[in-house]
Amino acid sequence: MSNCLQSWPEPIVRVQALSESGIREIPSRFVKRPVDRPCFKETTSHVKEENINIPLIDLENLKSSDESIRDETMKVISQACREWGFFQVVNHGVSHDLMANARGVWRDFFHLPLEEKQKFANSPVTYEGYGSRLGVEKGGKLDWSDYFFLHYLPEPLRDEKKWPFLPIACRKVVAEYGEEVVKLCERLTKILSINLGLSEDYLHNKFGGDNEIGACLRVNFYPKCPQPDLTLGLSSHSDPGDMTLLLPDTDVAGLQVRGGNDWLTVKPVPNAFIVNIGDQIQVLSNAIYKSVEHRVIVNSAKERVSLAFFYNPGGDILIKPADELVTEDRPALYLPTTFNKYRAFIRTKGPSGKSQVESLKSPR
Ligand code: OGA
Ligand code: NI
Repeated sequence: MSNCLQSWPEPIVRVQALSESGIREIPSRFVKRPVDRPCFKETTSHVKEENINIPLIDLENLKSSDESIRDETMKVISQACREWGFFQVVNHGVSHDLMANARGVWRDFFHLPLEEKQKFANSPVTYEGYGSRLGVEKGGKLDWSDYFFLHYLPEPLRDEKKWPFLPIACRKVVAEYGEEVVKLCERLTKILSINLGLSEDYLHNKFGGDNEIGACLRVNFYPKCPQPDLTLGLSSHSDPGDMTLLLPDTDVAGLQVRGGNDWLTVKPVPNAFIVNIGDQIQVLSNAIYKSVEHRVIVNSAKERVSLAFFYNPGGDILIKPADELVTEDRPALYLPTTFNKYRAFIRTKGPSGKSQVESLKSPR
């Protein structure tokens, strides 16, 4: 399998260039099967109420002097992890200016001339750099997006020379952003550990602790699309790592979260991060917490930029359901695996719903 990961199976088409060329019809490679299209409705499904949104959590409440407010907030987070796999957080401690700057430098990056971006063209070996596809299967359907992917942690994998040098502020902003967002991931990891009835450092240690925990940033760029009903910006998937902190665009929605047969379009709250549970926390929590399928829709009027910060276990650590969460009534649901092996799947096949975590289910 490693051989087929060395290079892309077909010439890469930059979706942004395609969009800017003024085409009226999208190439067939981007046309999804009818069941995967944004407007497809199963006969049993109903339209979600317009005002439903994923839970919103004010992290400042965890510092309240009133114990009942602190307890209630922990409970709402716990419920969100069990039932939604998604929530938004405000008053999270990351500077709003830094968030805006991060979005700004990346928007500017994608608006550089193509030659500038091509200097960072990526390959499927590490995925680092400027890319336009996930997965290496020849003839696979493509998503309507380009991206930039970089490693932030563990430190030996961080190589700022692989980050854009234009716009001038990019490297500095990414480094500052990474530092702040890692702090927030660490804080959330503690909250989740406590909510699972474990010691506060439990998940942090199981994921490799200070020296091994991984973190990557993927900046997604979704160009305007002339036929948004036929394609997706990012196909349905769950995130392979521990948890993801998503900084969405301020003025255009796109992220959809699965709830049964329905897809709920998330309405981003100003200055919030969208947090979602990844497959590794589903495995470690023995499915008490869920990594939930999500996808991205595009539109013909506005481009969209999002920054997905993936917090991951160290690559060579065996991840399996926590002994503390395995009981006679609830035996271990998943077989142990390492994140490096696990990630090879999405890197080969591209986004494929929840098929990967399902494949880890222990035989009964
Ligand atoms: C992702 C992702 C959502 C978005 O990058 O894994 O789900 O809104 N992104 O861009
Ligand atoms: Ni995702």
